[in-house]
Amino acid sequence: MGTLWGGRFQEAASDLMQEFNESFSIDKRLWQEDITASIAHVTMLGDCAIITKEESQLLQTELHELYHAIEANPELLSGNYEDIHSFVEAKMIEACGDTGKKMHTARSRNDQVTVDMKLYVKKSLNELKEFVLQMIQAFEEKGKAVDALMPAYTHLQRAQIVPFSYVLDAYAAMFERDVKKIEDSVALLDENPLGAGALAGTTYSIDRQQTTDLLGFASVQRNTLDSVSNRDFIIDALQCFSSLMMHMSRFAEDFIIYSSQEFQFVELSDHFSTGSSMMPQKKNPDALELIRGKAAKVISLLNAMYGTMKGLPLSYNKDMQEDKAIYFEGLDTTVACVKILTGVTTELKVNEKRLQETIHEGYLNATELADYLVRKGIPFREAHEIVGQMVLYAIEKGSQLHELSFEELTSFSSVIEEDIYHELHPETILQQGIKKDMLNK
Ligand code: ARG
Repeated sequence: MGTLWGGRFQEAASDLMQEFNESFSIDKRLWQEDITASIAHVTMLGDCAIITKEESQLLQTELHELYHAIEANPELLSGNYEDIHSFVEAKMIEACGDTGKKMHTARSRNDQVTVDMKLYVKKSLNELKEFVLQMIQAFEEKGKAVDALMPAYTHLQRAQIVPFSYVLDAYAAMFERDVKKIEDSVALLDENPLGAGALAGTTYSIDRQQTTDLLGFASVQRNTLDSVSNRDFIIDALQCFSSLMMHMSRFAEDFIIYSSQEFQFVELSDHFSTGSSMMPQKKNPDALELIRGKAAKVISLLNAMYGTMKGLPLSYNKDMQEDKAIYFEGLDTTVACVKILTGVTTELKVNEKRLQETIHEGYLNATELADYLVRKGIPFREAHEIVGQMVLYAIEKGSQLHELSFEELTSFSSVIEEDIYHELHPETILQQGIKKDMLNK
């Protein structure tokens, strides 16, 4: 392996150490960012007369060449290199000879790897945001297409009636917050660490504003020690992934339950289900179960990154090299889950007939019956007690509240009038007070 640091050594690292130390197999994924940041760096070096204009031009041309060559043939990203930075520098020395050896003037791999990762995280968060927006749209469209009411739960016990679309809207609201978290994370990382050098800047009068502008960062990152040892932006991104995964996992749990034979509220499309090797009747919600399972892993990756960083002294430490495997795994898993859940939701079959039947059972209108009594002049706590007794009576009788006769109902409270049956109807309930807002979702 051609290393970037032979001078001080009398012997090469052992094969075992080289294999242990290398990150090229993982960080080759940063090739576009590494070349782009290198182009900005050598352009600035030329403009600041730290290398000649001709040298800068040659390096820029060859870096562009390399970019296009890898684009055309990604297999070029192979060989015995320590990391992507060593690879790109070796290619420049191959292409430009001694001029290639000048590319790393006023730069360290420490500011280089941080700038590469920032560019990559920014790009991938913006892509993820687009996928989440598409998922939100799928939730909204499914909500508009389904005109059914359903029981909503607390403690997984039947509570009150809501439109089916309102449940989807609850998840859309969570995902909208996740989009904001992504935007905030991008805004927070948008400072350029390039120019921080190994940790303490450089004796050259480099123009950090120029590379900041060329790379599209909002500003220069001010403290160089902080710049090379900051991985907050990876933690913030993993926090976005974890939050998204937690929300998707909750959806998965709800809809695994709703798709069970006991509930039969929904059926997953065949495209997103699997069968059993032994039991011929089975149709399993594997897509949702995998989302729920993978959420645990992504949350653990966030933890892994916190664990990596929490004991590190200033400034760069090699522990940080582990960030890439952690980040890529978190990103890939989250993107895959968002795409799968978008498909699951788009193709979800909702059993409207079953939902229609189910809302008439389970005393879902008990709270509204108490509200009715309140409107007729009874204090709420008293109304609650009366309806509790009515529910107990109905349970013993094996009927629902609206199935009780007028005589039965009025035996609990004389304020009850004939309008009670209309008032207890699900459609009426959802037109009352702020509940009607749910219908617009
Ligand atoms: N591969 C390294 C990483 O990902 C690049 C930075 C190496 N810097 C150093 N001083 N060894 O962190």
